[in-house]
Amino acid sequence: MIEITPVLDSRSNSPLYVQLANYIKQEILSGRIKPNEKLPSKRNLSRYLNLSLNTIQSAYEQLCAEGYVESKPRKGIFVSTFNEEIPSNQIFSQKCEPENEELKVNIKYDFNSGKVDLEHFPYSIWRKLTIQSLYQDKGELFYNGNPQGELLLREQIAKYLFASRGVRCSANQIIIGAGTQVLIGLLSLLIGKDHIYALENPGLHRTRTTLQDLGVHTISTPLDEDGININQLKNSAASVVYVTPSHQFPYGMIMPISRRMELLKWAEGKNGYIIEDDYDGEYRFKGKPIPSLQGLDTKGNVVYLGTFSKSLIPSIRISYMVLPSSLIKKYQESFTVYKQTVSRLHQDTLYRFMNDGHWQSHLNKMRTLYRKKHSTLMVSIQNYFGENAIVVGGNSGLHIVLEVKNSMKEDELISKALNVGVKVYPISIYYHCAKESLSPGVILGFGGLSETEIDIGIRLLKEVWEL
Ligand SMILES: Cc1ncc(COP(=O)(O)O)c(C=O)c1O
Repeated sequence: MIEITPVLDSRSNSPLYVQLANYIKQEILSGRIKPNEKLPSKRNLSRYLNLSLNTIQSAYEQLCAEGYVESKPRKGIFVSTFNEEIPSNQIFSQKCEPENEELKVNIKYDFNSGKVDLEHFPYSIWRKLTIQSLYQDKGELFYNGNPQGELLLREQIAKYLFASRGVRCSANQIIIGAGTQVLIGLLSLLIGKDHIYALENPGLHRTRTTLQDLGVHTISTPLDEDGININQLKNSAASVVYVTPSHQFPYGMIMPISRRMELLKWAEGKNGYIIEDDYDGEYRFKGKPIPSLQGLDTKGNVVYLGTFSKSLIPSIRISYMVLPSSLIKKYQESFTVYKQTVSRLHQDTLYRFMNDGHWQSHLNKMRTLYRKKHSTLMVSIQNYFGENAIVVGGNSGLHIVLEVKNSMKEDELISKALNVGVKVYPISIYYHCAKESLSPGVILGFGGLSETEIDIGIRLLKEVWEL
């Protein structure tokens, strides 16, 4: 049975039954109450909301009269089915704006950079391993585990990071956590409040928000073609810097070795930290791999962050950080009071997945697949847009920035695309403040679309962007 919990204002000029009818109407229009669902009986709703039976009766009659619900004799009141699209001005007058646009259109081609290819996710292997995790150790996994995360999984991660990303660490230095934001929060406690953090601008808004909400002093540092601007960093009071060197988020530049060495020297001089967020470094389409900053660090100034959100699936919520010895010591002395945030079952299943060799074959398969998708995206952009668009940061990762040379601003590019069922994403939200230098453009993620969908999506964009 659906729950109806409106906030009604008895002092309003609008009668209670009208407020209630409007509320139910909005729930129906937004899709939260679905066609054919049964509404609560008048008596139950009257009791639940502590309103008179007459008020409920009048509200239901109003909805019936307007065709939102139908009364079926001896069965109850049911939400009608709508064949026609509901006019957009009927879709709420209240808040919820971001969803409104999407309600009106059917999004067929979603260039969301957070999506990965689910068609090729090895469901049956994952299912089998989950069952093994559930049964093979007599329920041990149902108790709390090590606050750092399962040792067996950390050992697998350490092995993988060394082989694939040049990260040098032991399992003892790794802390697993349910996402990058959780880990950044813990990290800021470990590093302490005496530091100022420099953040890439533009950069990941989630990092900025997390740190600011925790009361950390942050400053914005602009980018140049190699990543974070080192001179601006040197001239600032910061002693901690957060960077995305393998694929700057969102602009996608890969930090060259010279800039990496400069950053390391800066951190050593400041006795500070570099937080290296290597969120999608597994996927590189051009050029030679560059060792991670962590792998180049000899003084213990780098914290390495990684995630399975892009390389496996985002909903598994398994990310990790590799701490240098000074911070792991602090963690083990004073911070194990914070319990592990990832389910032991998922950790154990992932351990089995890695230990049995499925992880490496999955990664190999996905690399080939994303390389193809990436190449389709580049070819489609070239074919349809020609000289009228520039791809930025297209050498690695699962998204690109597309700078579009027409007279449309970012919000216009996005809304025109939405009109034809294509969803593209803004860059402006990743800027800390003014965005004067920003050329109009959008972010296009391609991981969750097939090659055909990518091509059709780009063709539709050509039409609506009038390129
Ligand atoms: C810069 C950056 N870091 C990290 C992540 C991953 O975050 P999480 O580990 O919380 O899924 C993302 C998005 O997927 C990202 O864009």
